[in-house]
Amino acid sequence: MSRVLDCFIMLLFFFCPLGEQLGTTPNIRDIVVGRCYNYMTLVNPGVRYDCEDIWMHFETAIFRQPSCNVTAEDYHQMFHYMTQDWPCHRSLFWSKTRPLMHSYAAVMPHLWTLEDTLVGFMFNDLIWCRQQDDTDFDFGACPDWSACENHPVYSLWRQASQNFAETACGNITVLLNGSISNAFSKRSMFGSVELDSLDPQRVHYVNIHVVASLMGPQIESCSQGSVVDLIRILQMRGFRWTCTDNDQMLMTLQCIQSQASCSLTNLKSMLLH
Ligand SMILES: *[C@@H]1O[C@H](CO)[C@@H](O)[C@H](O)[C@H]1NC(C)=O
Ligand SMILES: *[C@@H]1O[C@H](CO)[C@@H](O)[C@H](O)[C@H]1NC(C)=O
Ligand SMILES: *[C@@H]1O[C@H](CO)[C@@H](O)[C@H](O)[C@H]1NC(C)=O
Repeated sequence: MSRVLDCFIMLLFFFCPLGEQLGTTPNIRDIVVGRCYNYMTLVNPGVRYDCEDIWMHFETAIFRQPSCNVTAEDYHQMFHYMTQDWPCHRSLFWSKTRPLMHSYAAVMPHLWTLEDTLVGFMFNDLIWCRQQDDTDFDFGACPDWSACENHPVYSLWRQASQNFAETACGNITVLLNGSISNAFSKRSMFGSVELDSLDPQRVHYVNIHVVASLMGPQIESCSQGSVVDLIRILQMRGFRWTCTDNDQMLMTLQCIQSQASCSLTNLKSMLLH
C-alpha cells in the first residue's frame, strides 16, 4: 500500500512525516499511465488493460466532486476497467509492518500485496486532489487528510483494499507488528476494510504472523493484546486460523535488513520468547 496511506493511518495515532500541504504529484498523468503500460508489458505480461481509459475514468472520478467529497463509489467505474484475478494462497495483508512486508514479499515472490495489483502498482505513493473551483488537479496543495470526510486518495485505497480482500482465497497471510500496542487496530485499513471483506467460504486459513522488532519491545503476541481480539473475530465469523509469534524467517529477515550489527545472541533470545 502507499506511503501516503501509511501517513494517513499514522496521523490518526501519531504524526505525519510528510508535509501536510503537498499538492498533486507532478506529472501524475505520465506516471500513472506509464506505470500501467509498465505493469502490463513488463511486470505482469499477458494481462491487457486500456490504460488511457483507466486514466479517463480516474479523472472523471476526481473532477466530478470537490476534493473532500470523493467517495470509494466514485471510483467504481474506474475499477470496472481494472478487474484482476489472482490465484489462491497468495494474498499478503499487513499492518504497520511496511518495511518488513517488503523484504518478506521479496523472498516469498509468490505472495502478493496490494502493491502488486494493477491499481496498487499504478497509484503507489502518489497524491492527488482537484482544485477548489475548477476541474483540474491542484498541484499547489491538497487538503489535509484529517480535514476530509472523503479524501480522494484515501477513498481510492479504501476501494482497492476492499477489492483485494474480496478476491483473496485459499490461505492468506497477515503480518502484524508485535512491538506496538494495537497491533490489530480496527482503524487500520486491515481492521476497518480488509477484514470485513474477507469471505470465510473462500479463505481456507488466515495465517497470522505477529512479529516484534529485533530490539523489541514485545508488546503484543498471539495470546496478548489486540491480536486476541482479531482471533476472536475470525473465530466468530467461521474462519480457520493459525497464529505464530516471531516466525524464524521473519526475524532472520529483519536481522539481514538491519544496518546495525545483529548478533546471533540477540536473535536467539528473541526466538526463545
Ligand atoms: C457530496 O457528495 C454527495 C453524494 O454524492 C452529494 O449529495 C453532495 O451534494 C456532495 N457535496 C458537495 C459539497 O458537493
Ligand atoms: C513496528 O512498529 C514500529 C513503530 O512504528 C516500527 O519502528 C517497527 O519497525 C515495526 N516493526 C516491524 C517488525 O515491522
Ligand atoms: C494452509 O494453511 C494450513 C495451516 O497453516 C496448512 O496446514 C496448509 O498446508 C496450508 N495450505 C497451503 C496450500 O499452503
